[in-house]
Amino acid sequence: MPKIAYVNGRYLPHRDAAVHVEDRGYQFADGVYEVCEVARGYIIDMAPHLDRLDRSLRELKIGWPMSRASLQTVMREVISRNGVVNGLVYLQVTRGVAPRDHVFPAAHTRPSLVITAKKASPQAAAKRAETGIKVITVPENRWERVDIKSVGLLPNVLARQKAKEAGAQEAWFVDPDGTVKEGAATNAWIVTKDGKLVTRPAEFGILKGITRATVMRVAETLGLEVEERGFTVDEAKAAREAFITAATTLVMPVVEIDGQTVANGHPGSTALSLRRAFFDVAEKSAA
Ligand code: PDD
Repeated sequence: MPKIAYVNGRYLPHRDAAVHVEDRGYQFADGVYEVCEVARGYIIDMAPHLDRLDRSLRELKIGWPMSRASLQTVMREVISRNGVVNGLVYLQVTRGVAPRDHVFPAAHTRPSLVITAKKASPQAAAKRAETGIKVITVPENRWERVDIKSVGLLPNVLARQKAKEAGAQEAWFVDPDGTVKEGAATNAWIVTKDGKLVTRPAEFGILKGITRATVMRVAETLGLEVEERGFTVDEAKAAREAFITAATTLVMPVVEIDGQTVANGHPGSTALSLRRAFFDVAEKSAA
């Protein structure tokens, strides 16, 4: 089955799927994106992802490229044309195509929309969760508005690459006072010795993860307490468990931080229970 992408009104084979050289996403990273998980033929948490897209667009004064209902139809069409039952759907909206100039283009400039979908193996993800992942820490060096899901991700790219070169799978951005912000593309959590889940408040300074919000509801159904507060790298290294959340990883146990094992170096039971119960609690819309 050839891969198909939606690009500004057309469904195109990947090799022909391209945006204009003067698209402001390409020129200035002047755009936003969302990634939703597709699982067992359902789009997971589609409504909150589109609510966050709306917020990102409003913060940057970019218009919707089409109505929310039409966008949902195109997302489903891209998923279907790519035969995705388990995987991801990616959508990106930029301020559109205009002669390169830092100031906003003319008001009639149409935002650009790209949607792609790809398959992912739930078995491979389950296997990874059985071993857990390693993280490194890096100094926070991003702009203040990381609450906007912007496509400007260079610090995140460099951090993830550094993690890879260190044999790890994620990098946590850390403030000068030692508190953990979030991963390059995931939110960060720990489980304290007395079994409380801890994650940093998400009103500013990090991306307010949709998976994070769903995991809070999962925690409630499991009778687990969640504390929204900052935690340091040292506290994380000494924690009972650590894990990350994102649409791409769901709940993924962390077993090593900067080369130091967390607890006994095996995925924690809390993270694994949250992972198991996730699908029951998450919002599911037929893909
Ligand atoms: N990343 N923090 C950052 C910096 C992220 O980029 C992401 C998501 C998250 C988790 O958000 P959510 O639970 O809504 O996926 C937190 C996506 C998946 C990505 O860039 O691929």
